Amino acid sequence: MSNVTLTMGSSDPKYVNLVKSDFSVLSESYDLINNFMSMGTDRQFRYLAIKNLISNHSENNNQFTTFIDIGTGTGHLGNELGGQLPGSFVVGLDVTKSMIEFAKNRDIYKNGLFNFVLGDAAKTPFRDSSFDGGMSGFVGRHFTNYPSTLSEHHRILRKNGRIMMLEMGRRATKFAFLIDVYVGMFMSLLGKLAAFLITKGNAPFRLLEETYARFYSPEELKSLYQGAGFITRYKLGLLGSIVIMLGKKK
Ligand SMILES: C[S@@+](CC[C@H](N)C(=O)[O-])C[C@H]1O[C@@H](n2cnc3c(N)ncnc32)[C@H](O)[C@@H]1O
Repeated sequence: MSNVTLTMGSSDPKYVNLVKSDFSVLSESYDLINNFMSMGTDRQFRYLAIKNLISNHSENNNQFTTFIDIGTGTGHLGNELGGQLPGSFVVGLDVTKSMIEFAKNRDIYKNGLFNFVLGDAAKTPFRDSSFDGGMSGFVGRHFTNYPSTLSEHHRILRKNGRIMMLEMGRRATKFAFLIDVYVGMFMSLLGKLAAFLITKGNAPFRLLEETYARFYSPEELKSLYQGAGFITRYKLGLLGSIVIMLGKKK
């Protein structure tokens, strides 16, 4: 993450504008494109990631009430949590208004257990210790100011609260070169093709390739989480193409 301008306490404004402009045109087609380019595996990974978050959280007989879904997009990760842990309350935070608007209007989110807030993952409007748990799915590649962003997530979680990040795995196993071809080229190409066909050429779909190329390895991510005050471990899936980072606030 070298060529970005950092303002202490928030994400790089230029990159955030890029995120907003790309995801604004994608909101209605995001799920379809995601499903197509991942060949349906994205659902499976969200299911596994939430299962891990819940079992990590249950270790100390932690009670569940309130969770934050950081970069919620169309809300799938939070919705998966609601399904696996009925009665939990999820706040979905996202910097792109139309993603939230789209998520809000879907019938499944009208049960009162899901709320949405427009905002930046590196500088949220929440009070200290607001949440019992936090999660993010395929958003970590978009964080431009890691120390500030993870410190912010640490701040809004209560003591012993659990955090989970689901992301693409980079340089994670000896199969890394295959994953680079699979994610960096093949998936990215599928995404571009799907975006072109579905949005009739309106969505550039440029961010997957760019963010994947500069993303951290699981070991580097682990150090960043530790630096922000989390006790951290991770799991890898599909030959290391997927990482599930699990943290506990000390
Ligand atoms: C690839 S989508 C992932 C959506 C969802 N979590 C999922 O599992 O499908 C990335 C989302 O993160 C949001 N995002 C990117 N950077 C962000 C930031 N700094 N703060 C909040 N949301 C952000 C984007 O607007 C977009 O909706």
